[in-house]
Order: sequence, then C-alpha cells, then structure tokens
Amino acid sequence: MNSAPTEPAIRLIVALDFADADTALSFARRLDPTRCAVKVGFELFVVAGPDLLSRLHDLGFRVFLDLKFHDIPNTVAAACRAAARTGVWLLNVHASGGLEMMQAAHAAVRETNDTTALLAVTVLTSSDVQTLREIGVNREPVDQVGLLGALAIQEAGLEGLVCSAQEARMLRERLGPAPLLVTPGIRLEPAGGDDQKRVMTPERAIESGASAVVVGRPITRAPDPAAAVDVFVSRLGGAD
Ligand code: C5P
Repeated sequence: MNSAPTEPAIRLIVALDFADADTALSFARRLDPTRCAVKVGFELFVVAGPDLLSRLHDLGFRVFLDLKFHDIPNTVAAACRAAARTGVWLLNVHASGGLEMMQAAHAAVRETNDTTALLAVTVLTSSDVQTLREIGVNREPVDQVGLLGALAIQEAGLEGLVCSAQEARMLRERLGPAPLLVTPGIRLEPAGGDDQKRVMTPERAIESGASAVVVGRPITRAPDPAAAVDVFVSRLGGAD
C-alpha cells in the first residue's frame, strides 16, 4: 500500500465556485499554481467533469476534489478509486458514513495513487445542536466533531479532515501534528461581511493548527485575484 503525503507544500486552496468550465479555467489562468491549489466542488464538477480536472492539472495546479462521498463502503471505495486515478491531490468523504466506509475508501485511495490524500468531513458547519438532534445525535456539535475526527484519523487512518478553523485547535490537540486540517471560512478581516458567520483570519487559522485554508469569494471576487492570493499567502506565513 502507498502512503500519502500529509504535509502540504501549499497552504492556500482557492475555491473555484464557478458555474462552468470556461469561467473556472479563465479564472485559474490568472493564478500562479506554485502559490495556491484549487478546489472543485459539486456544481462545477457536475457541469465540467474529469476533463476540467485534467485541464487544471495541465495548468500545474494541485486540485482538491470536494465531493464529500457518503454511501455504502463498496460504492464509496469505487468512487474514491476513480477520483484518485484522476490525480487529484485531495478528496473527501463524510466521516458519518462510518468506519468500514472510511477504511474501504482509504484502502482504495492508497492502492491507486500515492500522491492523493483522503480527508473526512466531520460535522458540516451548517449543522447545529438541533440539526444533530433531528437525526438522532444527542450531542453538542463540537463533541461529535471530536468523535468523528478521531474515528477518521485514529481508526480509519485517513490523512486529514475538513473542519472549521474554530475546531482546529481541539482537533490538533487531540489528534497530534500529522493530520492535514483543511479549514474554510477564512477572511482577511475578523468580521467577514458575507454569509460566512464564524470566520477566522489566516494567521489565527494557522495558529490554531490548520494545515491549509480554503478561500473562495475574497479571491474569486477580488479586482486582482493574483494580488489577493499574494496577500493570503503572505498572511498564511509563506508556506509555499
Ligand atoms: O467564498 P468562501 O470563502 O466562503 O468559500 C468557501 C468554500 O468552502 C466554498 O466552496 C464552500 O462551499 C466551502 N465550505 C465552507 N464551509 C464549510 C465547508 C466548505 O465554506 N464548512
């Protein structure tokens, strides 16, 4: 079995939250792939598919394929194998799919591509105590994050987690230095100004234990996206 890299050379992942491949690619061409990676989510992948991943790889980008798989173990393993074959850097599953599902997914990735790391999503940041209660989980979200994070890293052996920056310190203390902790909800100013309610600055995210941050609109909507990348990279501590 292969082992995956767990230390990212790049600390900034730009979310390509665009509706079509042409827009995403013309935006990506304005960025420097030695300064940032890119994230492709549901909408863009459903529209543009693996061809877009190839084109981003051809431009030199590392790609986080953010499809959050959650299904029976065999199906998730097959999806992860197919995703790892595309050469993406990061892909992810829902930890709430359980240990057997994560183990199957992880084995599939490790057998397929030694440069792909598998992350788990614990509790979506849109979920609160009421959301968890609705699905029969009578626990505070932070406790559920800790439980699922330990299951993903310590039991299933995944390379990392997607988590809120607010959870990074707790997860880092509990899980040690090895796991990749990838955190969205990052803004240059502590008061974000859009729909992200609990935001953190790049410096505080790294101090809290984040390995890499996902940033969307502050870069995709910037008048000069490459300059915005430079600001984030320097505030993340020059990790590239
Ligand atoms: O524009 P913004 O920086 O808020 O984009 C953040 C990206 O991270 C989006 O692609 C969003 O879907 C994703 N994300 C998030 N919060 C989470 C998980 C993912 O904002 N808890």
